Amino acid sequence: MFAMSTPFAYTLDSIQERIEGLTPTSRRLSSLRGQFLDSRAFDAQLAQGDPVLYEYYPVHRPEVAGELFSGLTTLYPGTVGGEYFMTKGHFHALLETGEIYSCLSGQGKLVMETPEGTWQVTDMSPGVVVYIPPRWAHRTVNTGPNKFSFFWVCPADAGHDYGSIERQGFRKRVVEQNGSPTLIDNPHWLPPAQRV
Ligand code: F6R
Ligand code: ZN
Repeated sequence: MFAMSTPFAYTLDSIQERIEGLTPTSRRLSSLRGQFLDSRAFDAQLAQGDPVLYEYYPVHRPEVAGELFSGLTTLYPGTVGGEYFMTKGHFHALLETGEIYSCLSGQGKLVMETPEGTWQVTDMSPGVVVYIPPRWAHRTVNTGPNKFSFFWVCPADAGHDYGSIERQGFRKRVVEQNGSPTLIDNPHWLPPAQRV
Protein backbone atom coordinates (compact mmCIF):
# COMPACT_ATOMS: atom_id res chain seq x y z
CA MET A 1 0.00 0.00 0.00
CA PHE A 2 1.11 3.60 -0.72
CA ALA A 3 3.98 2.26 -2.86
CA MET A 4 3.24 4.56 -5.77
CA SER A 5 5.20 7.68 -6.65
CA THR A 6 2.18 9.67 -7.71
CA PRO A 7 0.24 11.76 -5.16
CA PHE A 8 -1.84 9.65 -2.77
CA ALA A 9 -4.15 10.16 0.17
CA TYR A 10 -4.72 8.30 3.41
CA THR A 11 -7.14 8.63 6.28
CA LEU A 12 -6.14 9.42 9.85
CA ASP A 13 -8.89 7.87 11.93
CA SER A 14 -8.64 9.93 15.11
CA ILE A 15 -11.51 8.06 16.77
CA GLN A 16 -9.93 4.62 16.31
CA GLU A 17 -6.45 6.18 16.44
CA ARG A 18 -5.13 4.38 13.40
CA ILE A 19 -4.44 4.89 9.71
CA GLU A 20 -7.02 2.97 7.76
CA GLY A 21 -5.62 0.06 5.79
CA LEU A 22 -2.28 -0.13 7.61
CA THR A 23 -1.11 -2.67 10.16
CA PRO A 24 0.49 -1.12 13.26
CA THR A 25 3.92 -1.86 14.66
CA SER A 26 3.64 -2.47 18.42
CA ARG A 27 6.08 -1.79 21.21
CA ARG A 28 5.45 -3.74 24.38
CA LEU A 29 6.58 -3.02 27.92
CA SER A 30 9.42 -5.59 27.56
CA SER A 31 10.98 -3.56 24.74
CA LEU A 32 11.51 -0.64 27.12
CA ARG A 33 13.63 -2.57 29.62
CA GLY A 34 16.09 -0.19 31.28
CA GLN A 35 14.19 2.91 30.17
CA PHE A 36 12.06 3.49 33.28
CA LEU A 37 13.75 4.80 36.40
CA ASP A 38 12.22 2.25 38.79
CA SER A 39 13.53 -1.10 37.50
CA ARG A 40 11.90 -3.04 40.37
CA ALA A 41 8.49 -1.65 39.47
CA PHE A 42 9.26 -2.49 35.83
CA ASP A 43 10.08 -6.12 36.69
CA ALA A 44 7.01 -6.46 38.93
CA GLN A 45 4.75 -5.07 36.21
CA LEU A 46 6.31 -7.31 33.54
CA ALA A 47 5.73 -10.35 35.76
CA GLN A 48 2.00 -9.58 35.51
CA GLY A 49 2.05 -9.39 31.69
CA ASP A 50 3.58 -7.59 28.76
CA PRO A 51 1.09 -4.96 27.59
CA VAL A 52 1.42 -2.91 24.41
CA LEU A 53 2.65 0.58 25.41
CA TYR A 54 2.29 2.11 21.98
CA GLU A 55 1.48 1.36 18.38
CA TYR A 56 2.52 3.21 15.31
CA TYR A 57 1.29 3.20 11.74
CA PRO A 58 4.18 4.12 9.46
CA VAL A 59 3.56 5.22 5.88
CA HIS A 60 6.87 4.01 4.48
CA ARG A 61 8.58 5.71 1.57
CA PRO A 62 11.97 5.09 -0.04
CA GLU A 63 14.68 6.27 2.40
CA VAL A 64 16.13 8.89 0.08
CA ALA A 65 16.52 12.66 0.29
CA GLY A 66 13.39 14.47 -0.80
CA GLU A 67 10.93 11.76 0.29
CA LEU A 68 8.83 12.21 3.46
CA PHE A 69 8.10 9.58 6.12
CA SER A 70 4.82 10.06 7.99
CA GLY A 71 2.45 8.19 10.24
CA LEU A 72 0.42 8.06 13.40
CA THR A 73 1.47 6.91 16.86
CA THR A 74 -0.87 5.99 19.72
CA LEU A 75 0.48 5.75 23.25
CA TYR A 76 -1.63 3.99 25.88
CA PRO A 77 -2.21 5.45 29.38
CA GLY A 78 -0.38 4.06 32.39
CA THR A 79 2.69 4.34 34.59
CA VAL A 80 5.67 2.25 35.72
CA GLY A 81 6.70 3.17 39.25
CA GLY A 82 4.91 6.52 38.82
CA GLU A 83 6.65 7.31 35.52
CA TYR A 84 4.20 7.71 32.66
CA PHE A 85 4.17 5.36 29.68
CA MET A 86 6.44 6.78 26.99
CA THR A 87 8.02 6.04 23.64
CA LYS A 88 11.64 4.89 23.50
CA GLY A 89 12.74 8.22 22.01
CA HIS A 90 15.56 8.83 19.60
CA PHE A 91 17.86 11.17 17.76
CA HIS A 92 17.62 10.99 14.02
CA ALA A 93 20.55 9.10 12.50
CA LEU A 94 20.88 12.04 10.12
CA LEU A 95 21.15 14.46 13.03
CA GLU A 96 20.46 17.53 10.90
CA THR A 97 16.85 16.52 10.19
CA GLY A 98 13.73 17.82 11.96
CA GLU A 99 10.22 16.52 12.42
CA ILE A 100 6.63 17.76 12.91
CA TYR A 101 4.38 16.22 15.60
CA SER A 102 0.67 17.11 15.60
CA CYS A 103 -1.57 15.94 18.45
CA LEU A 104 -4.85 14.30 17.43
CA SER A 105 -6.21 13.09 20.76
CA GLY A 106 -5.41 12.78 24.46
CA GLN A 107 -2.90 14.64 26.60
CA GLY A 108 0.84 14.28 26.68
CA LYS A 109 4.24 15.85 26.67
CA LEU A 110 6.97 15.95 24.08
CA VAL A 111 10.38 15.68 25.78
CA MET A 112 13.25 16.98 23.66
CA GLU A 113 16.98 17.59 24.01
CA THR A 114 20.09 18.28 21.96
CA PRO A 115 23.31 16.22 22.09
CA GLU A 116 24.77 18.99 24.29
CA GLY A 117 21.93 18.64 26.83
CA THR A 118 19.78 21.67 26.12
CA TRP A 119 16.25 20.49 26.84
CA GLN A 120 12.64 21.48 26.33
CA VAL A 121 9.35 19.81 27.27
CA THR A 122 6.21 20.90 25.41
CA ASP A 123 2.61 20.08 26.37
CA MET A 124 0.54 18.38 23.68
CA SER A 125 -3.24 18.30 23.37
CA PRO A 126 -5.50 18.09 20.31
CA GLY A 127 -4.65 20.85 17.84
CA VAL A 128 -1.10 21.43 19.11
CA VAL A 129 1.59 21.08 16.45
CA VAL A 130 5.23 20.95 17.57
CA TYR A 131 8.15 21.68 15.29
CA ILE A 132 11.15 19.59 16.37
CA PRO A 133 14.24 21.26 14.90
CA PRO A 134 17.18 19.30 13.46
CA ARG A 135 19.49 17.86 16.20
CA TRP A 136 16.77 17.49 18.87
CA ALA A 137 16.06 14.00 20.24
CA HIS A 138 12.36 13.42 20.97
CA ARG A 139 10.20 11.22 23.19
CA THR A 140 6.43 11.40 23.83
CA VAL A 141 4.83 10.72 27.21
CA ASN A 142 1.13 10.02 27.83
CA THR A 143 0.16 12.07 30.90
CA GLY A 144 -3.61 11.60 30.56
CA PRO A 145 -6.17 8.92 31.41
CA ASN A 146 -6.94 8.10 27.74
CA LYS A 147 -4.99 7.16 24.64
CA PHE A 148 -2.67 9.88 23.31
CA SER A 149 -2.20 9.97 19.56
CA PHE A 150 -0.26 12.18 17.19
CA PHE A 151 0.57 12.49 13.51
CA TRP A 152 4.20 12.94 12.51
CA VAL A 153 6.23 13.66 9.40
CA CYS A 154 9.98 13.82 8.84
CA PRO A 155 12.48 13.32 5.99
CA ALA A 156 12.37 9.69 4.82
CA ASP A 157 16.15 9.37 5.05
CA ALA A 158 16.29 10.69 8.69
CA GLY A 159 16.71 7.22 10.26
CA HIS A 160 16.65 6.48 14.01
CA ASP A 161 19.48 6.52 16.54
CA TYR A 162 18.25 4.97 19.81
CA GLY A 163 21.69 4.30 21.31
CA SER A 164 22.44 7.19 23.66
CA ILE A 165 18.85 7.39 24.88
CA GLU A 166 18.85 3.66 25.66
CA ARG A 167 22.06 4.07 27.65
CA GLN A 168 21.09 6.97 29.90
CA GLY A 169 17.64 8.28 29.01
CA PHE A 170 16.58 11.88 28.58
CA ARG A 171 17.72 14.61 30.93
CA LYS A 172 14.15 15.10 32.18
CA ARG A 173 11.63 12.46 33.19
CA VAL A 174 7.86 12.87 33.56
CA VAL A 175 6.39 11.34 36.72
CA GLU A 176 3.08 11.51 38.56
CA GLN A 177 3.38 13.48 41.80
CA ASN A 178 0.28 14.30 43.85
CA GLY A 179 -1.81 13.28 40.85
CA SER A 180 -0.13 15.69 38.41
CA PRO A 181 2.55 15.28 35.76
CA THR A 182 5.83 16.64 37.12
CA LEU A 183 9.28 16.97 35.56
CA ILE A 184 12.18 15.52 37.51
CA ASP A 185 15.90 15.36 36.78
CA ASN A 186 17.14 12.02 35.48
CA PRO A 187 19.83 10.92 37.98
CA HIS A 188 21.50 8.76 35.29
CA TRP A 189 21.97 11.63 32.84
CA LEU A 190 25.56 12.84 32.39
CA PRO A 191 26.84 15.80 30.35
CA PRO A 192 28.59 14.69 27.11
CA ALA A 193 32.11 15.32 28.51
CA GLN A 194 31.51 12.91 31.45
CA ARG A 195 30.18 9.99 29.42
CA VAL A 196 32.39 6.96 28.86
C1 F6R B 1 9.82 9.13 13.61
C2 F6R B 1 9.22 9.48 14.93
C3 F6R B 1 7.98 8.74 15.38
C4 F6R B 1 8.39 7.71 16.42
C5 F6R B 1 7.27 6.89 17.01
C6 F6R B 1 7.79 5.81 17.93
O1 F6R B 1 11.03 9.80 13.43
O2 F6R B 1 9.72 10.30 15.66
O3 F6R B 1 7.37 8.10 14.35
O4 F6R B 1 9.27 6.83 15.76
O5 F6R B 1 6.41 7.72 17.71
O6 F6R B 1 8.77 6.30 18.82
P1 F6R B 1 10.19 5.59 18.93
O7 F6R B 1 10.70 5.48 17.52
O8 F6R B 1 11.00 6.51 19.77
O9 F6R B 1 9.96 4.25 19.54
ZN1 ZN C 1 11.74 11.07 15.01
